[in-house]
Amino acid sequence: MNTDKKVIVITGGAGGIGQTCARVFKNNPIVITDYSQESVDKTVADLTKEGYEASGIACDITNAKDVEKLVEFTSKTGELKALVHTAGVSGTVQDLKKVFTIDLIGTDILINAFYKLATQGSSAILLSSMMAHVVPSNEAYDKALANPQDPDSFKTVEPFVNGSSDIMYNFAKRGVILLSHKYVDAWGAKGARLVTVSPGVIETPMALKAAEEHPERMEMIKQATPLKRNGNPEDIADVIGFLTSHAARFITGTDILVDGGVLQNIKKMDHK
Ligand SMILES: NC(=O)c1ccc[n+]([C@@H]2O[C@H](COP(=O)([O-])OP(=O)(O)OC[C@H]3O[C@@H](n4cnc5c(N)ncnc54)[C@H](O)[C@@H]3O)[C@@H](O)[C@H]2O)c1
Repeated sequence: MNTDKKVIVITGGAGGIGQTCARVFKNNPIVITDYSQESVDKTVADLTKEGYEASGIACDITNAKDVEKLVEFTSKTGELKALVHTAGVSGTVQDLKKVFTIDLIGTDILINAFYKLATQGSSAILLSSMMAHVVPSNEAYDKALANPQDPDSFKTVEPFVNGSSDIMYNFAKRGVILLSHKYVDAWGAKGARLVTVSPGVIETPMALKAAEEHPERMEMIKQATPLKRNGNPEDIADVIGFLTSHAARFITGTDILVDGGVLQNIKKMDHK
């Protein structure tokens, strides 16, 4: 089988990073999925007009039945090359449970559901965040983050975030990295890889909304970035294109930070 004709599934496919990721995959059938059918249809129509082989299905990633339908849709489209998981919400959602559920439980549901489609050479690329790296390792919550569907997990993590949905976001994204460590052996046994990508500030609708709420923080981050600019979705999409390719065949169970170098300077500021 021509491996280049295998399917790429993009969650959050109608979002800023998701849409840009799709455009990296000129030679593969692409399955776009997102929360609303309308946004999926629009993205699929745009991609088709540009010459991509795209189809799509709406799916709420927190709903296991929806995710099963997505898995079925994918297997009817072809053999899986990669799951590119970009669906998520930022801390601007102001609802701790929602952030935990979408960003972490949704990721856990997807990794487990797509495991059955993983074969030699497949990969799952999961979007974390550079902010995951400001959360220290701690036995008190790491087990809950790595097992988000356990009934007490949210209650275990909640006291550590001081009521802040932004901090819950950081914890949930640390959880995404812990999930990749937890499942990497099972995926590896099939010759498949699990990699997380941690973007810095990327100019998408999500980041621009956060910028409206914390304009001074966003400017401070830009000034603290060694490359003196925010990221754009292409900065992430190009790395994801590489990570799903044969060139990245020995990269698994690790996180790739794509932040223009800012995280190290943020950590220094936090220690002042
Ligand atoms: N933009 C940034 O600066 C930045 C920085 C670090 C990490 N990230 C991460 O990158 C990913 C993509 O971010 P983005 O900037 O493209 O955001 P975005 O808001 O543009 O796209 C996210 C997409 O996820 C979808 N989504 C949300 N909840 C869903 C659900 N329950 N089921 C299905 N789809 C759902 C939304 O409809 C949206 O289309 C996110 O996981 C985000 O946390 C982004």
